[in-house]
Amino acid sequence: MNNVSYYRSHLNGQLRLRHVGETVKLVGWVQRKRNLGSLIFLDLRDYSGIVQLMLDEKQQFADVKHEYLIQVEGIVSRKDVPNPALATGDIEIKVQSLHILNMSDVSPLIIDDVTDAGEDIRLKHRYLDLRRQPMQQTIRIRSKIMNVFHRFFEKHQFVNIETPLLTLSTPGGARDFLVPSRIHAGSFYALPQSPQIYKQLLMIGGFDRYYQIARCFRDEDLRADRQPDFTQIDVEASFLTQDEFLHLMEEAIAEVFLEVKGMTISRPFVRLTYQEAMESFGSDKPDLRFDLKIQEAPQPLLDAYQTAGFAGSYTRVLVLPAALSLLTRKILDEWTTFVKPLGLKGLVLLKNEQGTLTGSFAKFVQQPTELFAALSMKEGDVAIAASHDDRLQLLAILGLLRLKAAALLNCVDINNVAIAWMTDFPLFDKNEKGQLVSAHHPFTRPRDEDIPLLDTHPERVIAQAYDLVINGYEAGGGSMRIYDQAMQRRIFELLGMDDQAIERKFGWFIQAFHYGTPPHGGVAFGLDRLTMILTGTDNIKDVIAFPKNLKMIGLLEGTPSPVEPEQLTDIHVEVKHEK
Ligand code: AMO
Repeated sequence: MNNVSYYRSHLNGQLRLRHVGETVKLVGWVQRKRNLGSLIFLDLRDYSGIVQLMLDEKQQFADVKHEYLIQVEGIVSRKDVPNPALATGDIEIKVQSLHILNMSDVSPLIIDDVTDAGEDIRLKHRYLDLRRQPMQQTIRIRSKIMNVFHRFFEKHQFVNIETPLLTLSTPGGARDFLVPSRIHAGSFYALPQSPQIYKQLLMIGGFDRYYQIARCFRDEDLRADRQPDFTQIDVEASFLTQDEFLHLMEEAIAEVFLEVKGMTISRPFVRLTYQEAMESFGSDKPDLRFDLKIQEAPQPLLDAYQTAGFAGSYTRVLVLPAALSLLTRKILDEWTTFVKPLGLKGLVLLKNEQGTLTGSFAKFVQQPTELFAALSMKEGDVAIAASHDDRLQLLAILGLLRLKAAALLNCVDINNVAIAWMTDFPLFDKNEKGQLVSAHHPFTRPRDEDIPLLDTHPERVIAQAYDLVINGYEAGGGSMRIYDQAMQRRIFELLGMDDQAIERKFGWFIQAFHYGTPPHGGVAFGLDRLTMILTGTDNIKDVIAFPKNLKMIGLLEGTPSPVEPEQLTDIHVEVKHEK
């Protein structure tokens, strides 16, 4: 039987009418205490739920307080007035004996589904916050997700291999957390940003299929979906094409949704190229739960922009169906204030009011009917247009407005799950100095047909890289890897590294490529983000037992902390205090 031990015969949340008449032994924390004169009611909580205890005044209970840990024995009885709010609401326990297993100070937060406590208090006393049902459920879902992956990978002959946590600092690894060596003065280990290089070495090491639930560390500014230490479901496989690999990973993700949410996800997943995603949704991680698409400006609008003298090199439009009454002047002003610091001069509003084009820009449009037809704008629809010389910047801003529009139109079905692979990313980006930098990482393989472009137009080369996007989150990313040493060297050269630099930074890794490296590729899914999606929270701290706050502070333990001067001496570190 479930969780039965010396201490208890049942879990509190499992008791039902079928148990009426049974004598049960329970443990739990006291969530609520009500004194009705001759009768006392206690709500007893364990991780499975709450059950109501009934005691009469003659029993020795007076000193039982909130969050006391108690053990009771009693008889399950039918409640006269059921409580539909509780799963156990048809019954209560008539207590025969009660033992206090442990007392509790007054809790600094209300331990209930909804708590009064702010985030700081919750994080400082996380062990109490974790007793709350929503936290229990989320952390258990996280555990279940990991278990489904373990089973899936086991079934498909992936080997679970741990890679070092004390590793080499990534070249240019601005985001590395460093660990000073005690034995080697002045040298540092780095905590891994991901197990990338090791997993590739494991392919060279002949494992064929590897996975790891890997802790990763990145010293980046935090956001609602980022933590400095987080967890990847890290995967690598040899001898699979990109398509074969993605299909296998789709099976894994579909299995997670089925087992955790009972949801059937249709496969194959939608695929969008980076260009398509940017053109239609203005984002490389579009939320596809709703269908608002960015459109090219039709000729009548381009003409109007010319007449008005607002035209940039690129003009795009976002049509908001039936938004006439929703998109008020006030909201348009807010959106305009939002886009200006991002680089747009302004927004143009076009309204279809009973077949007539209205809005202050209407006077510049010569052919309103053609405009409506080209944009498929019906009566009551509204369009937002913008123009700019930088196409990607324009699309990205409209992508952000698309999200605001979805919220305004209330068109996101939160029960829907929209999954897609983004593919065909550029291999390189350019940094502020105009130099090529890897868009993903330098081991990413270009598309075969683009290899000649490496010598002529490297900026046009498309990578065999992909991201998994779910409901607007980047839930995973990966690529097929370069396995040919000459090409790897060529990529490093394009990234501005000469032989010496390559040797110094990657020599140990490149060396391994000399020994029959198999074709391989992989992916890493963000476990934290998958858990966020599967539990419906938009705050990553909700899915991690002991997270850092947005200032990167662990409020519970007080990390980071100063250390003793002797410890610093031991590791040969001197701290300069900023004035
Ligand atoms: P990437 O950097 O895209 O790829 O990371 C993979 C996935 O990890 C999650 N993730 C994070 N989650 C929470 N907090 C963070 N700070 C954070 N950073 C990343 C995201 C992301 O999609 N080695 C490659 C993978 C590969 O090529 O196989 C890598 O690390 O969900």
